Amino acid sequence: MSSGLEISVNELKPVFTKEQIATRVHEMAAEIDAVYGDEPLVAVCVLKGAVVFFSDLTRSLHNKNLEMDFVRLSSYGRQSSSSKHVIFNKDVEIDLCDKHVLIVEDIVDSGHSMRFLLGQFAARRVRSLRLATLVDKGERREMDIPLDFVGFTLKKGFIVGYGLDYAERYRALPGIYEIIPE
Ligand code: IMP
Ligand code: MG
Repeated sequence: MSSGLEISVNELKPVFTKEQIATRVHEMAAEIDAVYGDEPLVAVCVLKGAVVFFSDLTRSLHNKNLEMDFVRLSSYGRQSSSSKHVIFNKDVEIDLCDKHVLIVEDIVDSGHSMRFLLGQFAARRVRSLRLATLVDKGERREMDIPLDFVGFTLKKGFIVGYGLDYAERYRALPGIYEIIPE
């Protein structure tokens, strides 16, 4: 169903191929394994955008003591507003107290969503808290966010595919594309 507010998409311009993504995700998994080894670790997927990245990343990890959980966030207010308000639509089910926690996110853009989630999890007396993001989109950053594992950096552009959507479309594309409006 259309909201009536959507731009019409003229072109999907390739940004990262599925092969480039697979290579980078494997490299990130090796970086993460080097930090945690077999230490008990909870990987937390930020729904929905990170779901494809999360499933590939976690299956590339060798950690024998890995647990998985999921959160869903939503934000209100203008994307560019520093007063952007973020709420939990779904919290994790695992008790994070005394656990190593790795948040797995699709894109850090303004940084408001991750500032909120890092604050929430830090208050739960976790053993450690780190953040893996597939894409670091620096141009509109408003909050200083410590990014521990970064797949790709991108200056600008709205991207879709590999879990990322535009108005719920394009999540199933195997590569990542920039939306070029008409
Ligand atoms: P922020 O860092 O709080 O501004 O929000 C980041 C969230 O907005 C990400 O987790 C994505 O779900 C979404 N987002 C930001 N940029 C893009 C994009 O280029 N494509 C798809 N989703 C995006
Ligand atoms: Mg997201």
